[in-house]
Amino acid sequence: MTAPLIDPFQRPISYLRLSVTDRCDFRCVYCMSEQMTFLPKKDLLTLEELDRLCTSFINLGVEKLRITGGEPLVRRNIMSFFNAMSRHLDTGALKELTLTTNGSQLEKYAKDLFAAGVRRINVSIDTLEDAKFTEVTRWGRLSQVLRGLDAAQDAGLRVKLNAVALKNFNEDELFTMAEFCAKRDMDMTWIEVMPMGDIGNETRIGQYWSLKDLRATLAEKYTLTDLSERSGGPARYVRLEETGQKIGFITPLSHNFCESCNRVRITCTGSIYTCLGQEGNSDLRAPLRASDDPDALADAIRAAISLKPKGHDFDYSRQSVDGRVSRHMSHTGG
Ligand code: GTP
Ligand code: 5AD
Ligand code: SF4
Repeated sequence: MTAPLIDPFQRPISYLRLSVTDRCDFRCVYCMSEQMTFLPKKDLLTLEELDRLCTSFINLGVEKLRITGGEPLVRRNIMSFFNAMSRHLDTGALKELTLTTNGSQLEKYAKDLFAAGVRRINVSIDTLEDAKFTEVTRWGRLSQVLRGLDAAQDAGLRVKLNAVALKNFNEDELFTMAEFCAKRDMDMTWIEVMPMGDIGNETRIGQYWSLKDLRATLAEKYTLTDLSERSGGPARYVRLEETGQKIGFITPLSHNFCESCNRVRITCTGSIYTCLGQEGNSDLRAPLRASDDPDALADAIRAAISLKPKGHDFDYSRQSVDGRVSRHMSHTGG
C-alpha cells in the first residue's frame, strides 16, 4: 500500500486536472490573445507518457481525473487516451473520468466519450447570443456548440454549463441562461474572472462581476436553497426551487476556497502546477523520460506536492489587480 498524497497543509490530493494540448480552436478574449505561439510537438508528452503519469497519480490515490486543454478534443488521437484510462474506472481505482471542453468537437466525440466511461462533462458557454458568442470566442460559432450539446445529451452524458461572469457582457443573460439550462435539464456554474495572462489590468477590473452580486440578482427571481453536496471541484451549489436545477458558484475573488483544495494540474509538457493562482511549478517530464521506474516518478510527484502553496493571492479589492499570474488559463486548462 502506498501512502496517499498529502500536501504541506494536510490537504489530501485526490483530483488531477491534465491538460493534453495548449491548442484551441477558439480564442476567448479573457483566456488567450489572438496571436498565440503554440508549443512544438516534441515538447508535448506523448499519449503513452500521459498514460504513465496518470496511472502513477491514480496509484497514489487520485480518484478524479479531468482532461483539459486548450481544447482537449483537438489533440490528435485523444480518444485512444480516454479508452486507455477507462481501465482505471473498471478497477474502481478511478471514480470519475471527465473533461472540460468548449463543445466544438462534441458532435464527433460524444458517443466515444460515453463508451470510454465518461458520464458527466463541463462545457464552457458564456453567452447564448450568436453575435456575442463570436465576440467572446473570436473564432467560435454558437450553433456548432449547441449541436455538440445535443450530441452529448443524446449520448447519455450529463452536461454542466460553465460561464465566466463578465460585467457588461453576460449580466443581462443571467435568467435566460438559467432557463435554457432548466429546459435542457443541465446544471450550470458561474465563475469569477481571474487575473491570468496579460490582457490589460483595467480590462480585468472592468470585466469583474462579483458572484455575490450575481447571486443577489438571481434571488430576485428564484428561491435559492443552499446545497451541501459537492462535485469535487471548488463550486458551491444552490438549487433553484422553481426549476429544480443546480447552479454553482466558483468564487476565487469574493470567497476564497483554497483551504479545501484537493487538486493539482499538469500541463501538456509535463509541468505540474500545484496551484492555479501561483507561478510555482515542477517538471515531471524529465523524470518520466529518464526511466521507466514507477518509484522514481512517484518520488518526483511527492516532491512536487510537498511544495504546494497555501493558496492564490488574486485580489481586486484595492481597485487594482493584485496576485496576477503571467500564464494564460489555457496553459493549465483552468
Ligand atoms: P466539477 O467536477 O464539475 O466540480 O468541475 P470543476 O469545477 O472542478 O472543473 P471545471 O473545469 O469546470 O472548472 C471550472 C473553472 O473553475 C476552472 O476553469 C477555473 O476557472 C475554476 N477553478 C477550478 N479549480 C480551481 C482552483 O483550484 N482554483 C481556482 N482559483 N479556480 C479554479
Ligand atoms: N478567469 C476565469 N475563468 C476562466 N476561464 C478561462 N479563462 C478564465 C479566467 N481568466 C474558464 C473558461 C472555461 C474554464 C476552462 O476556464 O471559460 O470555462
Ligand atoms: Fe487550490 Fe490554488 Fe485553486 Fe486555491 S487557487 S483552490 S490553492 S489551486
